[in-house]
Amino acid sequence: MLDILKTRAELTRFLNERRSGISSIGLVPTMGALHEGHLSLVTRSAEENDLTVCSIFVNPTQFNDPSDLARYPRPVESDIRKLTKTGCDLLFMPDAEEIYPEEESWHMELGELERVMEGKFRPGHYQGVTQVVKKLFDLVAPDRAYFGQKDYQQFLVIGELVRQFSIPLELVCCPTQREADGLAMSSRNIHLSPEERKEAVLLSKALFLIRSLANEMSPAEARDKGLELLGSSPLIQVEYLEIAHADTLRPVTDWNEASRVIALVAVRIGQTRLIDNLFIKH
Ligand code: PAJ
Repeated sequence: MLDILKTRAELTRFLNERRSGISSIGLVPTMGALHEGHLSLVTRSAEENDLTVCSIFVNPTQFNDPSDLARYPRPVESDIRKLTKTGCDLLFMPDAEEIYPEEESWHMELGELERVMEGKFRPGHYQGVTQVVKKLFDLVAPDRAYFGQKDYQQFLVIGELVRQFSIPLELVCCPTQREADGLAMSSRNIHLSPEERKEAVLLSKALFLIRSLANEMSPAEARDKGLELLGSSPLIQVEYLEIAHADTLRPVTDWNEASRVIALVAVRIGQTRLIDNLFIKH
């Protein structure tokens, strides 16, 4: 049975009643428009915990582009159906006044993480993400929290949040779920026109190409090949394609410079912004 709660008070009451009888709570924070990527996090949490809480909240403070917020999909009924089938116990679905009853200022020092890639192209985004995730962690006090590798930089940022506030929970990074042709699943994919959807496959193709070339050439040369592939589509505008240390996101110039290396990409296709990443060395 899926319980659906909309207020913080109800959530606190519900969890207080349950907490003593169970050994662990898993939390899956989302913004809804759920697809197999989100659901893989819910499934993993349901496997590993006695109680799984999923939140759906389209957090206004993390949107740096108002039109992106306005057109963010909100298919609530179908989300509820999917969660019911996936083993989620509790859906927390607050509105904005519930989460932000008053104006508040929030700033976390995220260092380099906020100055590169998503941090650079979406100013303020990670301040909004850490602000809302901290609230969810405080409210639910989960033992484990589940995030997708799809938003790898976000996972590192949340790691920093957990470290700086000494939050006693385990962070779990779940693999990126992809469509059959390789496109990473995303709530924003529904905005792609059929033509754009076809070209969007080039993101993952470029990443897999880089991985396949890693034995033959330097990171800079492999990156150029990836850029060349993305450049073959007139519909794609590249924001960044970087090959970086997986722990710090600092660029690598030699494959042996780091034990874990990741390639990360962001592009615009028409009105839609898409990101993806792939471990080159793990
Ligand atoms: P949202 O984009 O809804 O994503 C919720 C979670 O699902 C994130 O951890 C994200 O990395 C994961 N996810 C998205 N697509 C995935 C895919 N194809 N495979 C695996 N996991 C995937 O990320 C957010 O929401 C928000 O920033 C949030 C953390 C909820 C804070 O508002």
